[in-house]
Amino acid sequence: MARSVVAVAILVFVSASRISGDSSAVDLLGNSYIRRQSLDSSLCAQLIQPSGYPCSEHTVQTKDGFLLALQRVSSRTGNIRQQRGPPVLLLHGLFMAGDAWFLNSPEKSLGFILADHGFDVWVGNVRGTRWSHGHISLSVKDKDFWDWSWQELALYDLAEMIPYINSITNSKIFVVGHSQGTIISLAALTQPDIAELVEAAALLCPITYLEHISSRFVLRMVHMHLDQMILAMGIHQLNFRSEWGISIFDSICDGRIDCNDLLTSITGENCCFNNSRVDLYLEYEPHPSSAKNLHHLFQMIREGTFSMYDYGILKNLKLYGQLKPPAFDLSNIPKSLPFWMAYGGNDDLADMIDITHTLKELLSTPELLYLENYGHVDFIVGVTAKEDVYDHLIKFFKSWKRSSSVM
Ligand SMILES: *[C@@H]1O[C@H](CO)[C@@H](O)[C@H](O)[C@H]1NC(C)=O
Repeated sequence: MARSVVAVAILVFVSASRISGDSSAVDLLGNSYIRRQSLDSSLCAQLIQPSGYPCSEHTVQTKDGFLLALQRVSSRTGNIRQQRGPPVLLLHGLFMAGDAWFLNSPEKSLGFILADHGFDVWVGNVRGTRWSHGHISLSVKDKDFWDWSWQELALYDLAEMIPYINSITNSKIFVVGHSQGTIISLAALTQPDIAELVEAAALLCPITYLEHISSRFVLRMVHMHLDQMILAMGIHQLNFRSEWGISIFDSICDGRIDCNDLLTSITGENCCFNNSRVDLYLEYEPHPSSAKNLHHLFQMIREGTFSMYDYGILKNLKLYGQLKPPAFDLSNIPKSLPFWMAYGGNDDLADMIDITHTLKELLSTPELLYLENYGHVDFIVGVTAKEDVYDHLIKFFKSWKRSSSVM
């Protein structure tokens, strides 16, 4: 049984890799995504401006040549002369992108709600996502285009986005991260030159350690060594948005895991997920990521570390000057940096034991919001997230910017 699963998985990924660079990849639920993509390719035009919010596209270039899209969103009602509020940078999770903050109605989506409150909203899109597919010399078909993990998202992508926003707004920045967006925020904040530009951070489903992850789906992939298989086969881009994507899930859901409710088996049970919006969500998610990133995350699960990418002892020695990859030291984050964290009792990815581990290593004492019935995606698209989560988050940010004229 196990062997046949592996064989199917390999087949699926080989097939996936052949079409992964193909922009006409077929949507999991038909082809509405293709229609939208061919009409217009900017996030502002597709999802934000249609709701009446002013939105502008910005591009930043990383030290290693990636061209990342940032969107700047402001309030529907604000006039041009009105001073903008403090900047907030939104950092999405794995296999997501900046669209994740705008997928529900304006009254329920954090990106819109922050703009309504007068914040100067900046939407991050990490390398590899559909909005940040550019590079000065590489194409998505090159294997080097996918030669990164969340380490580079923290140390290159964030290291460019945050100073860029600071240079335009001349203000310290509030950061909001979800899931992988919290991994890269916390890793980046261990760097003093980034931390000094950040006013405060609000983390939804905070993750650094992944040792106690309980997602059946993820643990199954870890035990199958799917990450190593993929890399060994020379596959670099992970793109589940392909006609083979569903087969990947089928190969993992072979009876040992009940995948009738696929989302639940990945994220834990979500209390407040609106099933009627799945078609819309699937027009945007999932976004691609790299096979190396998946491997890095699985290393964290296997080794219980919050460290740089493990290349094996020889290359580690060459790159890092030591046998094991250096850990990101959370105690390097300034004690004075205010944190707010929200986490859920049904979240199978951000486990409470792992969050406690993170809290123990941080010098500062975050404000915490615990929601017993919340799963991993409730924090992004939950129908009651505004009352349960976002109102508290905004109150936290406002408590650090009392003097602002807009707030
Ligand atoms: C769920 O989604 C549907 C379809 O978009 C929408 O009409 C409905 O208002 C949503 N329900 C809630 C509680 O937000």
